[in-house]
Amino acid sequence: MHRSSVSSGLTTTESNFIGEAKQAGQLFIDQPYDLYSEDNQETWRKLYARLRPRWDRYANGHFLKGIRNLALDPDRIPRLGEVNRFLSPLTGFQTRAVSGYVPAFVFFDCLRKRTFPTTITIRRSDRLDYLPEPDIFHDIAGHVPMHTDKNFAETLVRFGECAHTAAQIAAGIRGPDTRVHYLTSVIKAMARFFWFTIEFGLMRATDGLKVYGSGLLSSYGEIAHAIEAPEVQRYPIQLEWAINQGFEINHYQPLLFIVDSFDHLFSLVDQLEGWMKAGKLSNVAPGEPAVYEDDLKSFLHAELE
Ligand SMILES: [Fe+2]
Repeated sequence: MHRSSVSSGLTTTESNFIGEAKQAGQLFIDQPYDLYSEDNQETWRKLYARLRPRWDRYANGHFLKGIRNLALDPDRIPRLGEVNRFLSPLTGFQTRAVSGYVPAFVFFDCLRKRTFPTTITIRRSDRLDYLPEPDIFHDIAGHVPMHTDKNFAETLVRFGECAHTAAQIAAGIRGPDTRVHYLTSVIKAMARFFWFTIEFGLMRATDGLKVYGSGLLSSYGEIAHAIEAPEVQRYPIQLEWAINQGFEINHYQPLLFIVDSFDHLFSLVDQLEGWMKAGKLSNVAPGEPAVYEDDLKSFLHAELE
C-alpha cells in the first residue's frame, strides 16, 4: 500500500484531525469514527488477537471479567459511546476522547469525576510493539477493563481527590518559588506512584503473580516479560520506595511492585494523601519523570470547590 494512503485515518502522530484539534486548543474532542482507515482497523485486530491468549495467562481476574463485561469487538476499533454504555452502569466511569497530552491536574480531576481521558488514535500497523505515546488500544483494551471493577474505580477517584489536596496545600504556600518547588515534588511523587501501580502494577493471586497495570496489559512483549523474566525485580510495594524511585519509559521495566489486592491499593492512596498532608511529599528524590510547565500550571490554576 502506498504510504500516503496509509497515513490517512487516525494513526498516532500522523492524523490531520488531531493536529487541527490541537492547533485549535481543543483538548476534549469527538471520536470521528469514519476517519479510521482499514489499516487502522487491521492494527486493532492484530493487537487484540495477539494479546488475547496472553491475557488469559497473565492478567488478573478483575481484568478478564472487565473484558467480558465491556463486550469489546476483537475485530473493530471500539466506539467510545458503545464502551460507555457497558461501563457506566457498572462503576459510573465513562471514557471521553482527548486530542493528546492531558496536564496532570486535569487528568487526575477527570478521574475524580469518573471520566477517563481517552486517546482515539491507534499506532502504526508496522509498529505494533512499541510506542511511547498512549493510543486507543492502550487506553481502551489496557485501562478501561479495569474501570469496570468497583474497588479499582474507587482507587482512581481517590487519586483524583489527592490531586485536589495537593492543589489546596499549594494554594496556601506564600512564595511562588516555594510553591513551584512543592508542586514539582508532589506531582513527581503522584506520577511515580501512578506508574508503579495503575500502569505497571502486579498483584498477588492464588495461582501466582498476575498483571493489573495497563502498560503491561497492552504490551504483547512486556506482559510476559513482567511475569517470566528472571532479571526483573518484583517486590512487595512500599510507598516510600515507589515515590522516590524514578522510571524510564523507553524500555521494559526492570522493577515492578506487587500489591495484595485492590483494597490494599486503595489504602496506599490513603497513605499517600496522609503523607502529603504531613509534608513528606514536599522533597521526594529528584529524577524522572520530568514535570512539565503545563502540569505545574494545571495545579496552580486548579479550580477547587
Ligand atoms: Fe496509561
